[in-house]
Amino acid sequence: MFGNLFSRTQKKDEIPPQDFSVLNTDMHSHLIPGIDDGAKTLEESLELVRGLIKLGFSGAITTPHVMGDYYPNNGAIISSGCITLQEAIRREGLNFRLEASAEYNIDSYTAELFEQGDILFMPGKRILVELSFFAPPPDLENRIFQLRIKGYYPILAHPERYSYYMGSRSDIERICDLGCDLQVNILSLAGYYGNSIAKWAKTLVEAGMVSYLGTDMHHIRHLKALEDALKHKDILRLLQRYSFKNKDLFNE
Ligand SMILES: [Fe+2]
Repeated sequence: MFGNLFSRTQKKDEIPPQDFSVLNTDMHSHLIPGIDDGAKTLEESLELVRGLIKLGFSGAITTPHVMGDYYPNNGAIISSGCITLQEAIRREGLNFRLEASAEYNIDSYTAELFEQGDILFMPGKRILVELSFFAPPPDLENRIFQLRIKGYYPILAHPERYSYYMGSRSDIERICDLGCDLQVNILSLAGYYGNSIAKWAKTLVEAGMVSYLGTDMHHIRHLKALEDALKHKDILRLLQRYSFKNKDLFNE
């Protein structure tokens, strides 16, 4: 129980980092053009990649939405988009490693994909999952259980943004107990989604419950807000004090 909760180590380096390079890899973003509500064009994708490099990231596992109602993507669509962007990154001479996974909404469409084995997972068979912003799926426990018995390790995207879990540590602990890691948005910590989400995100990180930080970058406004986030001393101190698993993703 709470294996991941107590595995966070606190670091005591003297000087806080000045950018996000300590994370190395961003594992939540919407960089592939035209397949979800992220980048609209290849040029915008490249601008976001250049922005990630400037923020200190060496690479990204980008995660387009897979959501039955709005973005019925699958492995083939995402992989093809990723190849297009990888080629553009190479053409531009950018030193940035890009791979693709997905942000899977817990719905009947993704249940079917998982049943078919159409899963684009991250190294270590990790997969990023998201929930409805309105109500938790009634079969959440079963869906997580099904993934776990297939050998996957779900990571819950931005738990701090689900209003129905706001402030409920026991709900979040229950999800961790089911075998989910947690990923918090850097922009949540920066107050982009409001003060109460910022406070709750910080509480979860300081409780040692958060394994990953992500940009969840969709567009240029997010990029500007991430640049501003680097001015937040408290965020830089969290990067200094807590060890996140982002940096190990490409080494698995
Ligand atoms: Fe996202």
